[in-house]
Amino acid sequence: MRVAIIGTGYVGLVSGACLAHKGHIVQCVDIDHRKIDMINSRRPPIHEAGLEDVLASVVPERLSATADLAAAVNGADLTMIAVGTPFNGSEIDLTYIEKAAWQIGEALATKDEYHVVVVKSTVVPGTTETVVLPILERASGKKAGIDFGVGMNPEFLKEGEAIADFMNPDRVVIGGIDDASIDRQAELYSPFPGVDIVRTTPSTAEMVKYTSNALLATLISFSNEIGNTSAALGVDAMEVMKGVHLDKRFSPILPDGQRVRPGMLSYLAPGCGFGGSCFPKDVKSIIAHGQRLGQPMRLLEAVASVNADQPSQMINMLEGRFRELRGLKVAVLGMAFKPGTDDVRESPAIAVTRTLIDKGVQVVGYDPIARSAAQAILPEVVEFEENLAAAVADADAILIMTAWAELRALPAMLADMDTPPVLIDGRRLIDKSAVRDYLAIGLPTTREFSP
Ligand code: UGA
Repeated sequence: MRVAIIGTGYVGLVSGACLAHKGHIVQCVDIDHRKIDMINSRRPPIHEAGLEDVLASVVPERLSATADLAAAVNGADLTMIAVGTPFNGSEIDLTYIEKAAWQIGEALATKDEYHVVVVKSTVVPGTTETVVLPILERASGKKAGIDFGVGMNPEFLKEGEAIADFMNPDRVVIGGIDDASIDRQAELYSPFPGVDIVRTTPSTAEMVKYTSNALLATLISFSNEIGNTSAALGVDAMEVMKGVHLDKRFSPILPDGQRVRPGMLSYLAPGCGFGGSCFPKDVKSIIAHGQRLGQPMRLLEAVASVNADQPSQMINMLEGRFRELRGLKVAVLGMAFKPGTDDVRESPAIAVTRTLIDKGVQVVGYDPIARSAAQAILPEVVEFEENLAAAVADADAILIMTAWAELRALPAMLADMDTPPVLIDGRRLIDKSAVRDYLAIGLPTTREFSP
């Protein structure tokens, strides 16, 4: 199938590259000529594991990038809208979606073949049918459901694992205003044999996306609250959650026949809070949307509030150890909102670093790949080190903010030091018995007996 994708951000480009890899002919459209040039020369403009290899395998034969939206739509059977939907404080900003819809509509005005326009961006329920569809009709002078189809196909990609998630999806949710709109989208996924496809309305598809992210965010805030309470009670939340997780409803059987191991507490391990470009924004957007509908979402309000406070647990542990923070040297390890990405948006590490600076702490930052992104938004006083050993040398305390695998080397590193710093683990990455002076989210400060 010939596909036009509007927007070459992380969702648009990963989707385009993977669809091309599966055999479709894809044109990616963007207004940014730097990105267009990079894509056409097989260089990914974003950091995403495996993307460079996929681009290398499809550019230029099956994927190319262009600024000419009308030509791309004209040459395609289906157009996907994958532009950004930034949160403006009270709701998502639909400016880019509306602009893309208008331009696609204008291109459809002179197109004879039946075409399907699909929203891929995350938009609050109702947007595709009440905002995008009317714009397409006005701009094209044509009728949706007759001259063209309209659909909503949310993405479920995790940053850092986006290529694998796209190639092996748990499910594909296809919303459409009619069977023709759904059928054409289903064709797009015909090279994904055996995948579960949910055929539904655009509004349901939009709600599936928000509900999925809201549920995962709820699990995290729930686990973080249990973590804080467990620590106050004097028990280790990690052990509590392992006991809970053995319930088969939480640890299903994997395709290889293995049960999900209790150590793999997906979204149930206590930590220093969720970040990124999705969970914080999506939770706030759906709360705001509920308010507009006269349907307050009290549980999600609590999820957001627990998450806003959670990074301060790291500061509390530090203050519990040192009477005065001013003048201390603290290594903040991991700036990205999670491992495997250079994305620092809404990262708990950024919030904690800012608080430390305000309290007069000398902060040494370290991140394997998110250093320049962090430096761009943090005050200049934050020093950054190139390697882990240099970052922790002479520190009074170490804060683990992101679960980078390389930080697992810390116990061995600390064992070699004469006066090792206290290690405060915000991600429960390190085995608590491996480090003598160890504090962590969800772990009581004094431990007497461990079986
Ligand atoms: C999330 C969802 O997991 C994807 O399914 C979804 O498609 C995507 O948002 C999106 O809407 O585009 P992502 O933001 O890449 O993906 O990251 P996650 O791996 O889910 O992690 C989000 C945040 O939760 C990170 O800050 C992570 O550190 C935190 N987290 C995750 C925890 O604090 N505890 C956990 O147990 C798991």
